Amino acid sequence: MKIAVLPGDGIGPEIMAQAVKVLQALGLPMEMEWADVGGAAYESSGHPLPEGTLKLAQAADAVLFGSVGDWKYDTLERALRPEQAILGLRKNLGLFANFRPAICYEQLTHASSLKPELVAGLDILIIRELTGDIYFGQPRGRRVAVDGHFPGAEEAFDTMRYSRPEIERIAHVAFQAARKRRGKVTSVDKANVLETFQLWKDVVTQVHSQYPDVQLDHMYVDNAAMQLVKAPKSFDVIVTGNMFGDILSDEASMLTGSIGMLPSASLDKNNKGLYEPSHGSAPDIAGNGVANPLATILSAAMMLRFSLNQEAAAQRIEAAVQKVLAQGLRTPDIYSEGTTKVGTAEMGEAVVRALA
Ligand code: IPM
Ligand code: MG
Repeated sequence: MKIAVLPGDGIGPEIMAQAVKVLQALGLPMEMEWADVGGAAYESSGHPLPEGTLKLAQAADAVLFGSVGDWKYDTLERALRPEQAILGLRKNLGLFANFRPAICYEQLTHASSLKPELVAGLDILIIRELTGDIYFGQPRGRRVAVDGHFPGAEEAFDTMRYSRPEIERIAHVAFQAARKRRGKVTSVDKANVLETFQLWKDVVTQVHSQYPDVQLDHMYVDNAAMQLVKAPKSFDVIVTGNMFGDILSDEASMLTGSIGMLPSASLDKNNKGLYEPSHGSAPDIAGNGVANPLATILSAAMMLRFSLNQEAAAQRIEAAVQKVLAQGLRTPDIYSEGTTKVGTAEMGEAVVRALA
């Protein structure tokens, strides 16, 4: 099993060190190779996604990714900004299916900003299409407006687009995932306004005819944003486009107490994948040893499950995470009175001990 380890920027290296420790403690035959990505790669080789990093990712069985980005790169031309690294990896590796589970662990019910009864036992799965939509649609750019409200003014534009096959394949992923869960898919769109999402809704409805055992609901994205904080447990699987999924998955993370708990998997059509915490690089706390490594550790568990065919090892990690939470260990983002505050490395070491 060959794993490309890309720690990236900000808290990336700190949290990755803990995930690697946990993986190594499993005693499985794993070969890990490190490379720079994002701002770190820009510093070392002038590009956020250097050829060598991309090649390593392509050759590996799976990619474990930390986080990229720092405000100090905000003034660089877009092609050189750290975010282009993760977007480039998604595009080049064909990682169209993004799984973002939002699970509220029993011990963290009180860390959520919502009332405990609303989130206790929460277990939803957001499936975000990851290589299309307004993120990648061409054309895009800046120009002088020839029409609109202010002809002659500077304007910027992006293109929202989805093709039928792109929608079909993500719909299949969602229905198949729902079959292994509670059998319900909510497709989130904006069909009341956007052509792109009318096609989305039509295609998801058509694909659904192949899954009569799964329940399908449609919901507009604004309503979905509201229902997520009103009645989050009414959802099972949410399937949506790239941009809506970006926004709703951050919202959903807060239901669980902290975005520091949320892993993610981004898969291609053969289940090869990139695994990363759903949170960003948090440059404000980087280097302080306080970041929560659990999202990255749980991402490593997803990697074992989806790409490396090691279900037992995945479950061992997940059980170990449950155990350290039960022991009352908390990084500052999930700390509450009566628990024990620990740093990044202590949390990682506790998970390693709990594996035993
Ligand atoms: C995410 C992030 C990325 C995205 C950024 C870093 C490009 O917010 O993975 O959700 O917008 O997809
Ligand atoms: Mg995001």
